[in-house]
Amino acid sequence: MTTQLTLTEAFPPLTNDLILRAARGEKTERVPVWLMRQAGRYLPEYGEFKAKHNVGFFDMVKTPSMACEITLQPIRRFNLDAAIIFSDILVIPQVLGMGVDVVEGKGVIFDFLLETPEDLKKLYKDANVCTDLSYVFDAITMTRHALNGQCPLFGFSGAPWTLMKFMIDGGSHSPLPKARKWLVTYPNESRELLQLLCEKVVDYLVGQVKAGAQLLQVFDSCAGELGPDKFAEFSLPYLKDIAYRTKEKLLEAHIEPVPMMIENMPANPKRRIAGKHVTLQGNFDPCLLYSQENELKNAVKTMIKRFGTQRYIANLGHGVHKDVNPDNVGLFVDAVHMYSEEINASS
Ligand code: CP3
Repeated sequence: MTTQLTLTEAFPPLTNDLILRAARGEKTERVPVWLMRQAGRYLPEYGEFKAKHNVGFFDMVKTPSMACEITLQPIRRFNLDAAIIFSDILVIPQVLGMGVDVVEGKGVIFDFLLETPEDLKKLYKDANVCTDLSYVFDAITMTRHALNGQCPLFGFSGAPWTLMKFMIDGGSHSPLPKARKWLVTYPNESRELLQLLCEKVVDYLVGQVKAGAQLLQVFDSCAGELGPDKFAEFSLPYLKDIAYRTKEKLLEAHIEPVPMMIENMPANPKRRIAGKHVTLQGNFDPCLLYSQENELKNAVKTMIKRFGTQRYIANLGHGVHKDVNPDNVGLFVDAVHMYSEEINASS
């Protein structure tokens, strides 16, 4: 514990804490902005780095100096208010014994998938996230230093339901919704799996904060497939548990808890539902990044007017697509700066 605290103290002071203030509900002079999947294939420098070092996706994820470099690429290019550590949600299934690779042209490929509850026996239930994922923690500490206080650094994890979905259905959009079938045919075993994932996610998130993550995001990318009732039963309780237990474990370790974001709430009248006491994040349609400059800027303006400039973090609704022109990502980021400053100044 003491070593971790010393490490944290040694981090360079933050010169831009806008996103932390927005997350805590404090006043902000403009809307902070970052993008889901802001590093990756749409950036030519990402492809160049991968080719130059002749490495695969998970080689980069598992080499802290490489993960650090890729994390910084979008920060150098755009006026972003947060970095997110370069990694993947699928490192948790890997730790549980399911080999995963990302293959060019094929997407995510697992060694094996969970077919029936019998297969749960194949999982390394006692896997120690803190040792097995130490490469992520090292990457976070290294990146936090490399950022030199320019903006805060996100750690992240997949949510239990989204991880379960990948472990059963794999990476492809299979026509048979096997993971959802599990929830109906094997509800108890499904809960057992979700609980196991929940425990690993908590340890993982705590480890990331100890290593230097200043915000956390939990990706429940597949939540939309559940519908409201199944979401209430098989996703939300685990998300709540993760939020509660991560905070508790950090407090026990005398570490200040950090803001946690959850993706993805079913869309639109979010502000009305959430009220004024929750910070919202999102939800620019990534396809609008294909627009002409004027349309793109107008869409950003509309989004900011709808959400308001306080308790709000601008982001996409999903990750950046791989064929988006990076210049349009720049237009999006700069438009958030411009319109939110303008609206703030006039109100
Ligand atoms: O945001 C960032 O810049 C940080 C890095 C990040 C990646 N994946 C890198 C990545 C983050 C936050 C993720 C999260 C993630 N991974 C999610 C949740 C967010 C979302 O987009 O819904 C999910 C569902 C995954 C699982 C996953 N990993 C998929 C579906 C894919 C794409 C497979 C394909 O070939 O299209 C990946 C691989 C992946 N993760 C890439 C990157 C940059 C592409 C790797 C490459 O080909 O070089």
